[in-house]
Amino acid sequence: MKHLILCAGLLASMTVSAQRKTIPQKVDSVLKLMTLDEKIGQMNQYNGPWAATGPLTNDDNLLSQIKDGKVGSMLNVTGVKRTKELQDIAMQSRLKIPLLFGQDIIHGYRTIFPVPLGEAASWDLEAMEKGARVAATEASAAGVHWTFAPMVDIARDPRWGRVMEGAGEDPYLGSKIATARVKGFQGKGLGNTDALMACAKHFAAYGAAVGGRDYNSVDMSLRQLHEVYLPPFKAAADAGAATFMNSFNDLNGIPASANAYLMRTILKGEWKFKGFVVSDWGSIGEMINHGYVKDNYEAALASANGGSDMDMESRSYIQHLVKLVKEGKVKMTVIDNAVKRILTKKFEMGLFDDPYRFSDEAREKAQWNNPEHLAIERDIAKKSIVLLKNEHSLLPLSKTAIGKDNAQRQIALIGPFAKAKSDNLGFWSYDWPDDSIRVTSLYEGVQKKVGADTKLLYAKGCNVNDTVTAGFAEAVATALQSDIVILSVGEARDMSGEAKSRSSIGFPGVQEQLVKAIVATGKPVIVMISAGRPLIFNWTADHAPAILYTWWLGTTAGDAMADVLFGDYNPSGKLPMSFPITEGQIPIYYSHFNTGRPAQNDSDRNYRSSYTDLSIYPKFPFGYGLHYTTFSYGPVQLSNGVLQKGKPITASVVLKNTGARAGTETVQLYLRDLVGSVVRPVKELKGFQQITLQPGESKTVTFTISVEDCRFYNDKLQYIYEPGEFRVFIGGSSRDVVETGFVLK
Ligand code: BGC
Repeated sequence: MKHLILCAGLLASMTVSAQRKTIPQKVDSVLKLMTLDEKIGQMNQYNGPWAATGPLTNDDNLLSQIKDGKVGSMLNVTGVKRTKELQDIAMQSRLKIPLLFGQDIIHGYRTIFPVPLGEAASWDLEAMEKGARVAATEASAAGVHWTFAPMVDIARDPRWGRVMEGAGEDPYLGSKIATARVKGFQGKGLGNTDALMACAKHFAAYGAAVGGRDYNSVDMSLRQLHEVYLPPFKAAADAGAATFMNSFNDLNGIPASANAYLMRTILKGEWKFKGFVVSDWGSIGEMINHGYVKDNYEAALASANGGSDMDMESRSYIQHLVKLVKEGKVKMTVIDNAVKRILTKKFEMGLFDDPYRFSDEAREKAQWNNPEHLAIERDIAKKSIVLLKNEHSLLPLSKTAIGKDNAQRQIALIGPFAKAKSDNLGFWSYDWPDDSIRVTSLYEGVQKKVGADTKLLYAKGCNVNDTVTAGFAEAVATALQSDIVILSVGEARDMSGEAKSRSSIGFPGVQEQLVKAIVATGKPVIVMISAGRPLIFNWTADHAPAILYTWWLGTTAGDAMADVLFGDYNPSGKLPMSFPITEGQIPIYYSHFNTGRPAQNDSDRNYRSSYTDLSIYPKFPFGYGLHYTTFSYGPVQLSNGVLQKGKPITASVVLKNTGARAGTETVQLYLRDLVGSVVRPVKELKGFQQITLQPGESKTVTFTISVEDCRFYNDKLQYIYEPGEFRVFIGGSSRDVVETGFVLK
């Protein structure tokens, strides 16, 4: 009833039959009622008064601007109470156009999921979709309409802190994950009260920032842009992502926020995207710093004409667009088109029918502690863990084993993250008052797995990032008393994320020294690494017998880690990014070109494309990850050695579980086009399947290859395939493969 009264003003001006109109017709009816100021108000987004995720500009008159119809959307406003409070004010505006509430729901809201890069390591698309679904269910119950996710930027430079938000280095994997996440967030479709509008960001090529420095420039060939950086965006658009967000960078000299090639030619033109584009925080105004425009007036002109429909926080639109329209510099059609796109989403979300349909206290309460959500989180958290090393099958640990001389077994938990809670949540997550109870630490996870015959010891050893080694003696003494050490090191949650670029990506502080001191005790040491990016840890990799890469795993982190440590889950994660040996190799990625002087191996350095002082190989390659069992791959069998249009072929291998435990392998398919009118990468991921096998069990794994898998962008940006020879590789990582060849005719 309430919404009918609140919307009465607007509805009165529409006839009864108008209520039966299609959304485009309804949008047109509203547009006709709007003044120019009100239209531009819809294109304006402000940060709410409670929290901020960027440099703040305070508006004393924020609320009166909402009342005056000058604000179309707010960000960083969550919770039924707060969203209601602001929506109430919007309902006092002349046309009562509801506000849209946007928020960075990057990896969960109440239930925090692994950071997106960690989740990508699961390669489990269904689990990722479910994770996004849970995030949407919780956030939409808290009044949020729109998430600024998924972040689909391809990233090949682990110095860039924002690698944690994406899906890693590969366009194929990145596209699949983009689709899964958009589907997860938007659920059964906009209009359902548990669906969030998705936002593919940051458009585009933000991940290629020079030197891995956040907000830095990008200059790349259009071919590379189309082949590597745009596919996940295209996948997100095809999956129906409601919105896109500009990136902060300039791309080939033109800031993304005014880049008509990106927004008008590609996104709204070629891809026929029907949603709207929001700028990044202040990115329209930042074009002044880029040296692209003189002031906010010019910024508004360039961005509106370039195709950004909504201005997040720079105030350029609200201050200058009216004048620009009156002067004829921005056409009314540009404004109308932007406003139509925004209003369409508000209609699709059902907000014109009921601006409060996401403001239901009972629903908010019901989703606050939903045990099903924790179970879904734990499932993907354990699947995200990557086993990097496991000498002499040190892992998994037994739950019941006894110690030396029939004494109680002693497990030492050492390191700055052994009892960490909020660090497990990672960047872009929320702190809730009961985190100390709800988030599980590694220590607690282990404690739940073992019985009375195991005693846990603990020593912190050192802090995350200082030079103090005073705790080493206690840590070493604790290790010496124990039968096994679990050593937990890595990055604090604010060390990878926005504006968190690091030039040295080793373990911060004295943590590597701590690892050395503990390994020197001679005790079996399992190293657990928490981080938001690939780190560099050669000494540890070479000397510790067992290593689990655990990213930042979210609310149930400790339980998920313990599930893997004690073999309740056989690790299946595979790296979504190459892990370099040193920063000197960056950028390093598996799908590089061959060059005219390829090195065959690390001894082949003379006048070769190599380093005189460094390997050309990563420490751990893309797609790599061990299990508590082993898999063997038979030779690749092709159904036909000739591939033709309309006649796909299959490539099969017999996969066998050759170990003693059931396990899941991610079987990866790569192709190489040997000769092209533009040079082609040495390998490109074209498919993957997750196969679970019992010990001794075999299965034929079959991939279909069609000419579509052989396409690439030529130098005229045509997406074509060319006849010639191809290699096919199938294996458990980008490096460990069996291969054969076919001819494309
Ligand atoms: C980030 C975006 C984010 C926005 C709003 C910006 O600084 O780059 O990814 O969505 O803030 O929080």
